[in-house]
Order: sequence, then structure tokens, then C-alpha cells
Amino acid sequence: MPLPLATATEGISPDNVSGNSTVPRHIAVIMDGNGRWAAARGLPRLAGHRAGAEAVTRCLKAARAKGVEYLTLYAFSSENWRRGPDEVADLTGLLRFYLRHKVNELHKQNVRILFVGDTHRFGQDLCDELAHAERLTGANTGLTLLLALSYGGRSEIVQAAKAIARAAMRGELDPDSIDETVVSNHLLTAGIPDPDVIVRTSGEHRLSNFLLWQSAYAELVFLEQMWPDFNETTFNQILEIYARRERRFGARPA
Ligand code: FPP
Repeated sequence: MPLPLATATEGISPDNVSGNSTVPRHIAVIMDGNGRWAAARGLPRLAGHRAGAEAVTRCLKAARAKGVEYLTLYAFSSENWRRGPDEVADLTGLLRFYLRHKVNELHKQNVRILFVGDTHRFGQDLCDELAHAERLTGANTGLTLLLALSYGGRSEIVQAAKAIARAAMRGELDPDSIDETVVSNHLLTAGIPDPDVIVRTSGEHRLSNFLLWQSAYAELVFLEQMWPDFNETTFNQILEIYARRERRFGARPA
């Protein structure tokens, strides 16, 4: 059965997906729909998040197989702290479980793991695990997996502005020299290329405070599918949609 796409005019059936040559260097994903996936099955939300964690593994496998260099996953937004304490605890527990059980495997697969966000809010224990994962995999040269945790795009820009202002006040930076590169270099994603594609599942058409600066020229792909159903076919569809888009970065068509 073809996966329903929000952008129906691009209707691509999974059957005609072939090995296309235009693989995006960096794919970023807003993994949405865990709760609705669970509700549709009469299951608790936690079951949806667990199934979502399995979808993370499928997504990673497909990204590695296709040679994607950077995969950024929005695993916990700064707004997610407003969910009930039970759900926050469930999500945190799931993240801890995932790290404990997957980091060694990812390391063997040459995956480099990085985290962006206000991670100290998760407490020292989890922060130690995050630091361990980053240290262990820091020299790996395969896919870079960037997990956005307690991440908010506006707050990231605010902290960059503060850091730039402080550097200027110390006389280390001439305000007239501040340009887009300077701002980019003060973001949490400094050194990571901007995403070529941002995908959101579950039929919602919003960025929800995700990579606001970095998304300037990203192709946006909105899928109807709920995140826990994400699989290799979905991944191939994304590549196919991307290959059909003409990226002009504001320039005129040739
Ligand atoms: C949105 O679905 C998803 C989240 C808030 C969390 C994403 C977490 C995972 C995919 C699992 C854990 C991740 C890792 C890396 C182990 P929602 O709950 O907002 O869904 P809804 O909009 O249908 O309620």
C-alpha cells in the first residue's frame, strides 16, 4: 500500500523508488505522531514512544546504507518539558535505555554521536551518559547522528547572540565583522552543515522551533505517516522527493 504523502502532487509509489544519485548530505527529522500511533491502537503513549525508538533504528540503518553523512533527530524539544511528569519521565527513561543499549553498537558501526540542546536539564546522570557517548564515538568517521534534546531553535539563537555580544564587549570581535558565518559558528550546530532536507511525519506542517536558522534553504518534506511506522520505504521516498526538487538557493533558474 503506498504511504500517504501530505504533498500529494508529488505522489510517488514505493515501487518506483530506485537508487537515485542525489543523496542529501544532511537529513533532519521531526519525529512526530508517537502518541497518535499509540492511541489508534488503544495503547498508552509510552508504547508509541517505544515504537518510535525502534523507528529511529530503522531510519539510522537506511541513512547509513544510502551514505547520508548527517542525520539530526528531534528527540525532545524544549517545549516537551510541559508534558506531564509521567511522560517526561517515560521519554527520559527511554532515552537512557536507548543510549545504554545502542551506543556500543553505533560505535562499532563507526557512527559519531553528538547532542545539541539544553541537556543539563536532564540531570547529571543522563548528562554523564551523553558525554560518554560523545567521547566514545567522537573520532568515528561514518554517519554523524545529532540528537536534539531539550532543544529549541529560538533559544539557540538567543544564546548565540549573547555569546557574540560578550565577545564584542571583551573587544575580541568587531561588531561590524559580525556576519552569517559568525552567527553560524556560535550556534550549537557549529561545524555541522545545514540540513538539506527537513522531514516531519504525522501530517503536521510546522517546524516547531527546530533548526530555525539552519533551515533557511532546506527542502521541507511533510509526510502523513506516523513516526513509529517509519521504515526503509519511507526513507527512500524522502530521497526520491528530494531528488525531484530543484534547489536554487534564491538564484534564478538556469
Ligand atoms: C512526538 O510524538 C515525539 C516525541 C515528543 C518524542 C520523540 C521520541 C522518540 C521517537 C523515541 C525516543 C527517541 C530516541 C532517540 C531513543 P508525540 O508524542 O508528540 O505524538 P502525538 O503528536 O501524536 O501526540
